[in-house]
Amino acid sequence: MTNDLAGKKVALLGAGKMGSILLQALLEKGLLSRKSTRATVAHEERAKALAAKLKVRVGTDNAEAVKGVDIIVIAVKPQVVEDVLREISGYVTPQQVIVSVAASVPTATIEKDLPVNVPVIRAMPNTPCLLGSGMTGLCKGRFAKAKDVALACRMFEVVGRTVVVDEKHMDAVTALSASGPAYIYIILESLAEAGVKVGLPRDIATLLAAQTTLGAARVVLETGDHPALLKDAVTTPAGCTIDAIMELEEGKLRVTLIKAVVKATQRAKELAFG
Ligand SMILES: NC(=O)c1ccc[n+]([C@@H]2O[C@H](COP(=O)([O-])OP(=O)(O)OC[C@H]3O[C@@H](n4cnc5c(N)ncnc54)[C@H](OP(=O)(O)O)[C@@H]3O)[C@@H](O)[C@H]2O)c1
Repeated sequence: MTNDLAGKKVALLGAGKMGSILLQALLEKGLLSRKSTRATVAHEERAKALAAKLKVRVGTDNAEAVKGVDIIVIAVKPQVVEDVLREISGYVTPQQVIVSVAASVPTATIEKDLPVNVPVIRAMPNTPCLLGSGMTGLCKGRFAKAKDVALACRMFEVVGRTVVVDEKHMDAVTALSASGPAYIYIILESLAEAGVKVGLPRDIATLLAAQTTLGAARVVLETGDHPALLKDAVTTPAGCTIDAIMELEEGKLRVTLIKAVVKATQRAKELAFG
């Protein structure tokens, strides 16, 4: 695969949890060079610690950081995005690409605070990016071209899978895959608890639950088969699984998960900044 990022200068504004995961992966995989990469945070002491850890320039001056770079990644909290845009807008040019990971901040909100024609890409990653197993949904703003989307996808492919959607779907992406790890951790915790209930040591129960979840997810991704079909293959007539499925149906697991994602999507819309 070609490295579209080779030779690009990048400024990542807000190297907190998500920003650092991304930066570290891009540097470690050699997709960005340390000398062409800079980052910012709010606090001087954190800047020093991060610079020592990542071996890149880290400061607290956003305007200084974006001068002359090719890609500006905005990874501050959503409520800080407008302040940061105000600081950098005088230095941003249409030759640069802005990639924002801020939840619920529409591309139009970012565009209105910048000079005209600046390409903006909005991305919604999730925490499993930490282990290269992330899922990132991306969409483009008014001025972004296909090559800008491809460049942004390349950044997030380093930490997992990517999918490009229309911006109207970004709140749903937030609710499903960005919040999703929390739902799966609850399911894992419950399955491990169930193992304990039926006599397994907790560590073994957790291993069984987690590896089973990973395996089932890989089968869905790698075969492309419908999950219902795969479920049928596990369900022997008059066997154990069908008894368990009856309990799940009675407990309304399906509708509960559907309602959870619907609620989170509504909340992401309510939180829209801009
Ligand atoms: N965490 C997730 O699962 C996740 C998933 C998808 C998207 N996101 C998005 O990622 C963004 C960051 O979330 P996070 O969880 O990484 O938050 P975080 O750990 O709190 O990171 C925010 C970073 O922004 C820095 N910062 C604050 N004000 C700044 C300013 N004016 N200029 C430059 N840097 C500034 C902070 O600096 P200090 O370290 O010095 O305080 C901190 O490093 C949010 O917009 C969120 O919606 C997060």
